[in-house]
Amino acid sequence: MPNITFIEPSGDERVVDVPVGWSLMQAATSKGVEGIDAECGGSCACATCHCYLEGELAALVPAPAQGEISMLDSVAAERRPNSRLSCQIKMTPALEGLVVRLPETQT
Ligand code: FES
Repeated sequence: MPNITFIEPSGDERVVDVPVGWSLMQAATSKGVEGIDAECGGSCACATCHCYLEGELAALVPAPAQGEISMLDSVAAERRPNSRLSCQIKMTPALEGLVVRLPETQT
């Protein structure tokens, strides 16, 4: 099962096995990773699953759909070029080793 490294707001790193097809948000919340609220449960309606994709593997993540781009306007922390909503990114084998940094705040 491929894994993802989440960097929590504190700077702690958590390596989490993620089933293919799960969202990064599902993986993080199911493993108790700090830094994601996911108030809407993954329906791209809250922007509290904001994350920053880091490293070369980020280029392998499909581009955001229009709904995600719009919702990124509502993130609480600084929006950066590598900002994404973790509920909209599905795990694939190619993303093994992806690094995902979580922001200081989601609200
Ligand atoms: S969980 Fe609400 S937008 Fe991702």
